[in-house]
Amino acid sequence: MSMTSASTGNLKSLDWNMAWREARQNRKHARNDNTAWNRRAPSFAKHTKTSGYARNFLRLMNPEPNWSVLDIGCGPGTLAIPLSGLVRTVTAIDFSDVMISILDKRCWEQSVTNVATHVLGWEDDWRQAGIREHDVAIASRSLVVEDIEAAVIKLDRMAGQQVFITSLVGDGPCDRRIFDAIGRDLDRGPDYLFVYNILHQMGILADITFVANGDNTTSYANIDEAVKGLHWMIRDITDAEESRLKTYLEKHLVKSGKGWALSYKHTVRWAVLSWKKPSISRDVFPLGVTRTPWAGRPRDTWRPELRVESTNKTTVYSY
Ligand SMILES: C[S@@+](CC[C@H](N)C(=O)[O-])C[C@H]1O[C@@H](n2cnc3c(N)ncnc32)[C@H](O)[C@@H]1O
Repeated sequence: MSMTSASTGNLKSLDWNMAWREARQNRKHARNDNTAWNRRAPSFAKHTKTSGYARNFLRLMNPEPNWSVLDIGCGPGTLAIPLSGLVRTVTAIDFSDVMISILDKRCWEQSVTNVATHVLGWEDDWRQAGIREHDVAIASRSLVVEDIEAAVIKLDRMAGQQVFITSLVGDGPCDRRIFDAIGRDLDRGPDYLFVYNILHQMGILADITFVANGDNTTSYANIDEAVKGLHWMIRDITDAEESRLKTYLEKHLVKSGKGWALSYKHTVRWAVLSWKKPSISRDVFPLGVTRTPWAGRPRDTWRPELRVESTNKTTVYSY
């Protein structure tokens, strides 16, 4: 189904998973491989150390001391490190070996002993890697996959109690003013609204809360460091774009403490979608008319591992 179906108002029958895939594939500068994340890991780790995102997410999550938590796409441990002091165990997985090695180093430096790390991707066989069900599963800003429905099924079946997904809102951390200034279109691809609708079509009624990164502004030693520090935002930046970026920064950087920072605040918000298990709401999707992950599809396209068992009292969804 094409994206144009959305504009006809036929939103209920739109296949949101397909719409997500199309929106991702239509992006010009789309690349999500572990080489790119490996390269970005050190600066990402530095940035997330001071951002308010982890604090705001954990306040919302309200972790319980006996929880085991699975953190998928954990990065340098933005959540895994603070969580380690609040829950029983954390299993942290990421397909970037540099992210995992930064997390390992942090655990060692801080004498954290309850975080197990694995270099593993969304696409890998987690069970074969020894990953079992946890109390809570998290995908924080890391659901960067083509088949989001399959990823949600995988995530959901790993959680005994609760699932949390943090997703992009609009432009996310990208600054549209910078894109305008360098003359490049900004297309961050599909955001949380797609994820919410995909969950809804799977019969999962997620709670949504928005959390902000906080007001800390990144400080740079000089203009060249600022240009370099913003490279992550502009994939495959050309020389001409870099020169326009420099001109923009010359106008908009102001003295901040010992360094230089942008003269305006750029508030970044994230959508946290969460649900408790069992995940599929029988109030809205009563037995018999349940909108399951495979609803509306020819039977031979169902994934063989998907199974629903209904008893008088409960519906058990197992994948
Ligand atoms: C924006 S960072 C988020 C890190 C951390 N969860 C946070 O919220 O700060 C995205 C992370 O997802 C990881 N990632 C992206 N695609 C992945 C995939 N297919 N499998 C596993 N990890 C992936 C990246 O390596 C990166 O560490």
